[in-house]
Amino acid sequence: MASQAQNQNLTRSDFFSKFAQVYVRQTGHSTLDILSDVITDNVQASAHPIGPDSVVHDTAAGPGVGGAALVACLPKDQLPKEMLVSDSVAMMVAAARESLVASPLSHVECKELDSQDLSSVPDNYFTHSIDNFSIQTFARPNDALRETYRTLRPAGLAIVTCWRRFAPMFIVHAAQRKVRPDVPLMPTPGPQFFEEGVLQKVVEESGFAKEGMTMLDKVLVVKDDENVAGLTMLMSGPLMVKAREGFTEEEEARWVESVRQSVKEEIEQFGGIRFEAYVLLATKSRAT
Ligand SMILES: C[S@@+](CC[C@H](N)C(=O)[O-])C[C@H]1O[C@@H](n2cnc3c(N)ncnc32)[C@H](O)[C@@H]1O
Repeated sequence: MASQAQNQNLTRSDFFSKFAQVYVRQTGHSTLDILSDVITDNVQASAHPIGPDSVVHDTAAGPGVGGAALVACLPKDQLPKEMLVSDSVAMMVAAARESLVASPLSHVECKELDSQDLSSVPDNYFTHSIDNFSIQTFARPNDALRETYRTLRPAGLAIVTCWRRFAPMFIVHAAQRKVRPDVPLMPTPGPQFFEEGVLQKVVEESGFAKEGMTMLDKVLVVKDDENVAGLTMLMSGPLMVKAREGFTEEEEARWVESVRQSVKEEIEQFGGIRFEAYVLLATKSRAT
């Protein structure tokens, strides 16, 4: 019989398989837009910008979000000479391949890999590793960060992001309270990472020295109608079925309107759908 942990992993993997084709629209481009901002404003202004000599890994990449951000932010002649795009979910890898195959990235490989065990990748290989909004979904975040550290070259740069405020959860909880205030709210993956200091601690435990770390906060307020519609669809639809566990048919029928009302309240409060993120840039020390 499958253990509880195996079942949870299965569920997570099923969730991301279903998510693959609609991912960018239903995240309202939030992960892509924040990463693009980090690359433009922080990575390229750092002592370790990405350039034509770079070898980049986007781990737990979803449908190729890191590659898409690089293409959006960098001129063609500054794109990395080599890029590995990996995810443990086959449909995410397929979606990444589809979106990046005709991109100006010259040498990009899309591969099914577990971020927590990159044993097919040699030590000290990448100049840059991107781990964008995935740490909260890993069963073993410390192992993933340890692999990021191991596979980075000395002086290589890791870009690790996680949510401080994941807006869809606040909206879904508000919608749940309207329909069924008596049932427990839908749990959030990796809630410990919402707390200040947890991301730094995990990154430090994986081998990165404190002195090589820069911590940033980013805020994205999603206002664009298309992106608001995509996020609304995510929260209304089958991917948020857990929020409706135990609902009667009549309660199910009220869900879409309840989400719509909760989105409206979020926009009234913040001027849009408000995401807040922690961003950690961590350099591997030269002497390893
Ligand atoms: C929230 S999405 C983030 C995707 C992308 N990095 C982005 O910026 O939007 C989390 C991704 O992590 C992947 N994932 C979860 N556990 C994983 C693991 N152990 N190894 C590799 N990928 C994993 C999921 O399949 C999903 O694509």
